[in-house]
Amino acid sequence: MEGGRPSKGRFLLCLTLSLLLQEQGDTFTINCSGFDQHGLDPAAFQAVFDRKAFRPVINYSIPTHVNISFTLSAILEVDAQLQLLTSFLWMDLMWDNPFISWNPEECVSINKLSISAEYLWLPDIFIVESMDTQRAPSGLTAYVSSEGRVKYDMPVRVTSICNLDIFYFPFDQQNCTFTFSSFLYTVESMLLGMDREVWEIAETSRDIIQTQGEWELLSISKATPKMSVGTSVYDQLMFYVAIRRRPSLYIINLLVPSSFLIAIDALSFYLPAENENRAPFKITLLLGYNVFLLMMNDLLPNSGTPLISVYFALCLSLMVVSLLETIFITYLLHLATTQPPPMPRWLHSLILYCARPLKCCPTRPQQGNRSLGPTPAHLPGVKEPVELVGKEPGPREAEVNGRAGSTRAQQEDEAQKQHLVSLWVQFSHMMDTLLFRLYLLFMATSIITVIVLWST
Ligand SMILES: *[C@@H]1O[C@H](CO)[C@@H](O)[C@H](O)[C@H]1NC(C)=O
Ligand SMILES: *[C@@H]1O[C@H](CO)[C@@H](O)[C@H](O)[C@H]1NC(C)=O
Ligand SMILES: *[C@@H]1O[C@H](CO)[C@@H](O)[C@H](O)[C@H]1NC(C)=O
Ligand SMILES: *[C@@H]1O[C@H](CO)[C@@H](O)[C@H](O)[C@H]1NC(C)=O
Repeated sequence: MEGGRPSKGRFLLCLTLSLLLQEQGDTFTINCSGFDQHGLDPAAFQAVFDRKAFRPVINYSIPTHVNISFTLSAILEVDAQLQLLTSFLWMDLMWDNPFISWNPEECVSINKLSISAEYLWLPDIFIVESMDTQRAPSGLTAYVSSEGRVKYDMPVRVTSICNLDIFYFPFDQQNCTFTFSSFLYTVESMLLGMDREVWEIAETSRDIIQTQGEWELLSISKATPKMSVGTSVYDQLMFYVAIRRRPSLYIINLLVPSSFLIAIDALSFYLPAENENRAPFKITLLLGYNVFLLMMNDLLPNSGTPLISVYFALCLSLMVVSLLETIFITYLLHLATTQPPPMPRWLHSLILYCARPLKCCPTRPQQGNRSLGPTPAHLPGVKEPVELVGKEPGPREAEVNGRAGSTRAQQEDEAQKQHLVSLWVQFSHMMDTLLFRLYLLFMATSIITVIVLWST
């Protein structure tokens, strides 16, 4: 009870003192007599502290000028699914408080004081894009100069909404916006400005950024449109922050293995079509590719359709197509060697046309055989029956009359079939070569398209 009285008395004293100070004139100079003996006297600042609930201006029709600047100190996370950018900013605010001023010569040459921010009026600047409460640590202090300029710096973790376009992933750039605005004060009460150039902000940010992570700061630019809501107009400062992804992780983990697999798939066309290993080999590759996609799925952005997904789908479909081609050729070869269907005339002439000159689909063995004779047969498989037909009649005819005719017919039949088989085999090989070239062409065009899209 008794302890309360002196403090109450001191409070009254302070109040009268502050009233006295106010009535002293328009200067609101802080009386700092005795600072040299007892340190700072809180009573001298009491008048300022008591006013912290109100905007510090003498004439309420004068707006408060707040200078804003910031330093981007970290890019913590970019969430493509929620379209959020989490970053860390050092926000610097500066404004004038006309009720604070002192004469540094009187006040033991104190030019600058730090005062706990909770005793001062603070502008309600916030970032419009922020989708989370701005987490600034509590208990910060502000610097106050003898002319009444207040400088308040705070670190904030900002989770801001940003229109992320991941089409060009992993070679993408994002352009995110930070809009600083007052929550309450319209242009009549608060004007925002900058005391640093925007390139200075960009430069210091680039120097400061600690994270050598996925994102790299490209540039910061500025616009200052006013925002009007209904009849009120709010001042605001907009900063466009351009960031770029460092793609090396994705190149090494996604693009290189995928390219190797597709290259091996293309090379596997050189396995002979008669060999039974080709199809199993391609199936193994396909399986391997699926496993690769499953494992690397975590690295891909989990929303939207980036170009890289299209590329993977393309690689997968190329592999499937090449497997189907192998199945088709294997089927053709099987059909040709077991029960060759009659060959259409046009197909026959097409094969002959293609096989003879070096025009359509030249292959080595045919070239060597071409010089052998006038016979239209080129393949060893075709030559054999011709030889048989020419040779056989001599010794066999003498043996048995009845059987000889039937044998010869059989042999001719056999030769005919052999010829057909060889034609079909040739056709299969030609198809194989043709489809392989088409496959290569399609692969090259699609991969070039993807690369061109990426590089723009
Ligand atoms: C400052 O305050 C002291 C008492 O603390 C008083 O004696 C002095 O007159 C004051 N000075 C002014 C200029 O008001
Ligand atoms: C406040 O400022 C306005 C505009 O600057 C001026 O018209 C008005 O007279 C001022 N009021 C006082 C009390 O100084
Ligand atoms: C704000 O910055 C401008 C320069 O851009 C300067 O003239 C003005 O005094 C500053 N105001 C405050 C309150 O810092
Ligand atoms: C970011 O977007 C804004 C507005 O859409 C534009 O003015 C600015 O130039 C863009 N910045 C970059 C680096 O692309």
